[in-house]
Parts: sequence; structure tokens; C-alpha cells
Amino acid sequence: MTSMEFGNDTSAALDLAGQRALVTGGAGGIGAAVARRLAGLGAHVVVADIADAAGEAMAAEIGGEYHHLDVSDPDAWARLADSLAGLDIAFLNAGVSTRIDGDPDASDAPMGEVTERAYRRIMGANVDGVVYGARAVLPEMIARGRGQIVITASMAGLSAIPLDSIYGLTKHAVVGFTKSLGATYGPLGVCTSAICPGFADTNIISADLMDLLRSIDVPVMSPERVADAVVVALAAAQPGSLWALWGDRPITRYIPNAVYDDLEDFV
Ligand SMILES: NC(=O)c1ccc[n+]([C@@H]2O[C@H](COP(=O)([O-])OP(=O)(O)OC[C@H]3O[C@@H](n4cnc5c(N)ncnc54)[C@H](O)[C@@H]3O)[C@@H](O)[C@H]2O)c1
Repeated sequence: MTSMEFGNDTSAALDLAGQRALVTGGAGGIGAAVARRLAGLGAHVVVADIADAAGEAMAAEIGGEYHHLDVSDPDAWARLADSLAGLDIAFLNAGVSTRIDGDPDASDAPMGEVTERAYRRIMGANVDGVVYGARAVLPEMIARGRGQIVITASMAGLSAIPLDSIYGLTKHAVVGFTKSLGATYGPLGVCTSAICPGFADTNIISADLMDLLRSIDVPVMSPERVADAVVVALAAAQPGSLWALWGDRPITRYIPNAVYDDLEDFV
């Protein structure tokens, strides 16, 4: 692995006045922190989620707008087309883990015990939801020759994540998607990048997992810290870039080695 440290200072922040930003999964956790941050920087934020009450409250708090959107449903994306017009920023963030506390159909058990429903649920949100989101917003951004897509991947997209291999699969998938969209549409003025956080204190972390993390001193970041990484990614505007963050360590650009030197441009 080689990497480039970008630094923690997001105080020289972006001016997003007049810009329109979509945040999927914006009702809670990382999405809510990013919605607040983008609104604070001047953007009009379109909050999209399946948690309607929390999403509506978030939109009201930041003077944005809320839309019900199940990111795994292609028809729902089509129905939202009018509200997605004129986007400058799309933060494709909604996601789940394979494990769903209290849901007998979900499992973080051995692979042989993962149900079809649990598998389809995570692939729908974490992979389909990102593909449908990119498909919905890219044509207009390309036509205008500008725009940014930031995808919430994970450290689980750069390295192994014990206990939830399917989660690791989905995050590696969106890392590859980010790099490829960056290479394809970066030259046309549309920047796609991804953030790759370690553990953050949100509802995706079950109480049991949180206890375990704390007992073995694994750092757990605030969602606001993850929002810093989104600001860094937007400010850097490097197509295909991946921004790692872990605990209080600096937000760092992850740059994979080329397998062959002469193919460097394609990684
Ligand atoms: N918290 C962490 O430790 C961590 C670390 C790395 C990456 N991530 C990623 O961050 C993203 C946000 O998760 P979070 O940690 O804020 O968890 P969270 O559970 O607090 O928030 C997820 C949000 O996504 C929404 N959502 C779930 N399925 C959806 C769907 N099908 N359509 C629309 N909205 C949906 C939920 O209602 C919720 O508001 C996810 O992609 C997750 O994989 C989280």
C-alpha cells in the first residue's frame, strides 16, 4: 500500500452557496452529519432515506427537503427524477450491514447460514443503491461538465472485515466502481470519489459489536469526523480517489500500487 496523507484541517472549508446536494441515508448517522455539514457550507440539501420521520426532521433542521427513497428500488429513483435535477453533489451513502439486530432473517453467522433475504437486502442497499444513484445523477452532470459524486465505501472496502464478509464484498464493489467512474467521467468534468471510514458511532454498529470494539480498544469515530472526510474529498476533487480515516489518524488518500508500471494510468 502506498498512500498520501491529506491532513485533518477542514477549516478552510468549501463554499457551497447556491449548490444542490443529495444525501442518501441522510436521516441518521453519517448521512445526517454530512447533511448538516453541507447545509452549513451553504448547500441546499436533498435528504433521501426510508426513515421518513427522522429524514423529515433532518430536512427541517437544515432548511432542506426530504424525499422517501429506497435506494435499492430502481423505480423509486425514476420517480425522484425531478427532485434530482440540478444536483451539484451526490453523496451516495445509504447502507446496511448483513447483520440486522432483531431480524430473524438477518445473520452475521457463518456463510452457510446467511439467508437469501439478508443477502439481497445488503446487496440492494450497498451495491444496487450506489449504481442506481450514479445512473440517476450522472447524465445531467456530464451534460453540464461538472458535478461530484462521493460514495460511502469503508475501510472494509480496502481490507478484510472479519465477521461480515458480505459487507466486505459490497464495499470492495463500490471501491472498484468509484475508481472506474473516476477514470471514465473525470475527463468529462464529473468527479467520483469515495470515503473509506473505519468504525463510526452510528446505528449500523450493534450494541454487541460496540461493546466488543471498546473492549479491545478499537477506535470509534464520531459521524462528524466522517463528515470531515467528505469535505476533504470534495475539496480535493480527484476523480477515482479513495479517502481513508481511522480513529483520530489523519484523513489519508489511499493509492493502490500499479501491478504493472506501464498500466499505472488505469488503476
Ligand atoms: N458506522 C460505521 O462504522 C461505518 C463505517 C464505514 C462505512 N459505513 C457506511 O456508512 C454508511 C452510512 O451508515 P451509518 O454508519 O451512518 O449507519 P446508520 O444505520 O446510522 O445510517 C444508515 C442510513 O441509511 C438508511 N438506509 C438504509 N437502507 C436504506 C435504503 N435501502 N434506502 C435508503 N436509505 C436507507 C437508514 O435508514 C439510515 O438513515 C453506510 O454505507 C455504511 O456502510 C459506516
